Amino acid sequence: MENIITYSYKVNKDMRQKIKKHQSMLIWFTGLSGSGKSTLANALELELHKRGVHTYSLDGDNTRAGINKDLTFRSEDRTENIRRVSEIANLMIDAGIVVLAAFVSPYKKDRAQVKSVVGENNFIEVFVSTSIEECEKRDVKGLYKKARAGEIKNMTGIDDMYEAPLHADLNIDTKDKSVEESVNLIFDKIKSKLNLK
Ligand code: ADX
Repeated sequence: MENIITYSYKVNKDMRQKIKKHQSMLIWFTGLSGSGKSTLANALELELHKRGVHTYSLDGDNTRAGINKDLTFRSEDRTENIRRVSEIANLMIDAGIVVLAAFVSPYKKDRAQVKSVVGENNFIEVFVSTSIEECEKRDVKGLYKKARAGEIKNMTGIDDMYEAPLHADLNIDTKDKSVEESVNLIFDKIKSKLNLK
């Protein structure tokens, strides 16, 4: 952008990571509403915290209540939602934090954009692939029922699309795996990147 010149700070990402004794990164959970993204992110965050990892969780509920409260579920707004979240995550990665982000993020191009903003090496994609039938059966927030009744529009999986990732780092169907099993799988995947000292 014109007239924007990056200032070179004396404290950089490497120095911050050194005092934290681990690398920073973004763990991105994508999947339908009710698939179990936040449950897994929350359980993984607790395990990381116990090991002394500095973490932060972002999800549709905490960002849409604040920084993204001007956004709806129209496709352009979902794209803008994910774009802003990718920039927030990028700053947090620079701060040395392990960011766990749980967003429906239904479009392939938006998830690719997140990866390119934070950098491939800082990005792990977890596809929480629980089926629409199972999500609708659980209907924790009652949104599927409302969508079927026509009370809400553009509900992902009902009258709005979800483009499933074809090459996620991990696919987890929460119907056939326990939270503990799933957390172990994700932890094994991120261990080498995390480089915990
Ligand atoms: S995203 O598509 O822009 O990535 P995001 O993850 O922020 O979505 O928000 C999804 C959450 O908002 C869902 O878990 C659900 O609680 C709620 N929600 C409300 N309306 C919708 C809708 N039309 N489609 C999907 N989720 C919705």
